[in-house]
Amino acid sequence: MKAVGLYRYLPIQDEQSLINVKIEKPVATGKDLLVAVKAIAVNPVDTKVRAPKDQVEELPRVLGWDAAGEVVAIGDQVEHYHIGDQVYYAGDITRPGSYSEYQLVDERIVGHMPVCLDYAKAAAIPLTGITAWEALFDRLRISDKGDDAGKTILIIGGAGGVGSIAIQLASKVAKLNVIATASRRESRDWCIKLGADYVINHRRSLTEELAEQNFKQVDYIVCLNNTDQHWKAIAEIIAPQGGICSIVETTSPVDLNALKSKAATFSWEFMFTRSMYQAPDMIAQQKLLNVIAKLIDNDQLVTTVNEVIRPINANNLRKAHALIEQGSAIGKIVLTDWE
Ligand SMILES: NC(=O)c1ccc[n+]([C@@H]2O[C@H](COP(=O)([O-])OP(=O)(O)OC[C@H]3O[C@@H](n4cnc5c(N)ncnc54)[C@H](OP(=O)(O)O)[C@@H]3O)[C@@H](O)[C@H]2O)c1
Repeated sequence: MKAVGLYRYLPIQDEQSLINVKIEKPVATGKDLLVAVKAIAVNPVDTKVRAPKDQVEELPRVLGWDAAGEVVAIGDQVEHYHIGDQVYYAGDITRPGSYSEYQLVDERIVGHMPVCLDYAKAAAIPLTGITAWEALFDRLRISDKGDDAGKTILIIGGAGGVGSIAIQLASKVAKLNVIATASRRESRDWCIKLGADYVINHRRSLTEELAEQNFKQVDYIVCLNNTDQHWKAIAEIIAPQGGICSIVETTSPVDLNALKSKAATFSWEFMFTRSMYQAPDMIAQQKLLNVIAKLIDNDQLVTTVNEVIRPINANNLRKAHALIEQGSAIGKIVLTDWE
């Protein structure tokens, strides 16, 4: 089958950084589905895993953790899916990714695709949708039934892939008062279109920007970009007994003492945790993807795709990686149709 892979970890300008390869089509066993991949989205994790280092693979390494496609075979323990089902999923970072015509994925982390979306629009959702959902509803324990309606949340990095779905979940599902951050007119407009009530600029002091909007503090903060840069402001802005969740690792230890007097809580979100550790509640990701699909089909959420590139090949994936590496993506970049 066709795939895009790498043997060496090289700068994206190098034509060898991602190459077209032919690899063996895998066989579904156990809880695995074999999915014919129709569309894929590119995420910063793809570029982080591909980042230059002195390591050489004997077999082509296939990246990519966001896909939509059709189930073409199932393992003998599969309970929830049938051949022909249209599905979407992020997958498991410890297994080969979705830059291939066919991919194996455990049914417990796969959702039924929204009926109203095509493959390209659906592929934009899973990785960022799982991340945003888990950050808000599992880590910060915000009510997904609207019981926290009216509380305030600051979403740092609002126009990015994760921010684009986090704004919608916070606003449309949790009914929070949403303050997003963006630094450019396009990214600011995008946040407002998705449901942000206020937008402040993350290139300026977040504390001062918030004060200009008449907020002294917020009940929740999700940090979706550069935790190092924003930590001091986060500790200043969080309300007493508030909740903070970050999805981006720091280069130095997080100063949790800064939160002590406020008894604020801090948690990490990592969307691969459940599959990486085969957590007993791994199926929570199947359930949340199905809930998100229903919310999209009921017009409560919209897809976050902003650019669709055709066809899926190494050249176009190198272009998508280069765009993601610039750090100014708005919404999601998706590739569809195999060359
Ligand atoms: N832990 C997890 O499970 C998990 C899951 C998904 C992603 N992540 C990580 O989370 C990060 C964001 O992912 P993503 O997919 O949302 O990325 P993305 O789509 O590439 O994010 C781009 C956005 O980041 C904003 N941005 C750039 N610099 C910023 C800064 N200093 N402060 C705040 N915002 C800034 C930009 O806004 P402007 O153009 O307006 O400046 C742009 O809209 C990445 O590091 C990714 O690896 C972690």
